[in-house]
Amino acid sequence: MIPTVVWEDGVVVMIDQRRLPNEEIFVRCRDHHEVAAAITDMVIRGAPAIGVAAAFGLALGVRNSTSEGGALREQWDDVCAVLAGTRPTAVNLFWAIERMRRRFDTLAGEGGDALRRALLDEALAIQTEDVESCQRMGDLGAALLPDRARVLTHCNAGALATAGYGTALGVVRSAARMGKLDHVLADETRPFLQGARLTAWELQRDGIPVTVITDSMAGHLMARGEVNAVVVGSDRIVANGDVANKIGTYTVAVLAKEHGLPFYVAAPVSTFDLVTKTGDEIPIEERSAEEVTHVAGHQVTPDGVPVRHPAFDVTPHRLVTAIVCERGIARPPYTESLRDLAGRAR
Ligand code: MRU
Repeated sequence: MIPTVVWEDGVVVMIDQRRLPNEEIFVRCRDHHEVAAAITDMVIRGAPAIGVAAAFGLALGVRNSTSEGGALREQWDDVCAVLAGTRPTAVNLFWAIERMRRRFDTLAGEGGDALRRALLDEALAIQTEDVESCQRMGDLGAALLPDRARVLTHCNAGALATAGYGTALGVVRSAARMGKLDHVLADETRPFLQGARLTAWELQRDGIPVTVITDSMAGHLMARGEVNAVVVGSDRIVANGDVANKIGTYTVAVLAKEHGLPFYVAAPVSTFDLVTKTGDEIPIEERSAEEVTHVAGHQVTPDGVPVRHPAFDVTPHRLVTAIVCERGIARPPYTESLRDLAGRAR
């Protein structure tokens, strides 16, 4: 398995996704500030992976503290705030912090080693459950695909974006295992190139046929019949079924509609934010302008010309054919189907 994020005896180890595909280098985080920096700086990215890393960061924060009682709680609140301030759009981050907070609250009275062990166990459970969820949604999603599927995907919603297996690429992996997959077309995904660098790297590593295209080629290839399904991941799915995902996903959904292609979203229940009613209310992260002005360290725009750099967009629910999660498949009307799946037992 690709070691996206691993707990190694008090150290959180992550493969540095900024260096892929050229170098396989590991970053070792020894305190929660280092974990937070790794999330902010994109060492680790992808909504479920961010949640798992944050959970390990919280476990680390408590493990490194020698305080007890009220002083420990104060530090805990501070650790939670540091991790919550890393990235705003992926709701899995806040879901993981909330889950760890509940664990802390039930055990705060005990303090000491029992609390520290319980928080680490909770983080490990979040990691294990994420892999299991991906495998389940992968199998459910693959069943939706046509035979000889030619799947277009955007960004990286793979093993690198989760604790393992992937969401959209989990569907692809299951389809390959079932003998249903013909080919994957990976949008390069400007500005950060998660498709060209990460999706291509991990699918090639697994022997799954993948071809990288520039984002601008998707419509042309759809018009020529080279795609028969689109599968993407998500950073936040709100109550009405609107879906936030990497910038450019909305464009792909519009193209899919024009060409009569199914547009599937694969994401675990930890990506559901059913408190938020519509996509208009989703906070959209703006990263550094340099992600747009520069490619691989080289400036490609003239000095002084402004650029726009939203990192995510929102695909309206009317363009989404189905949402696949580990508990089943949601179809319109999403207000009901998402609520129903969220309410089901694991
Ligand atoms: O900015 P990133 O690389 O964290 O954005 C990642 C995405 O948009 C993914 O598609 C999404 O998190 C789903 S990951 C299973």
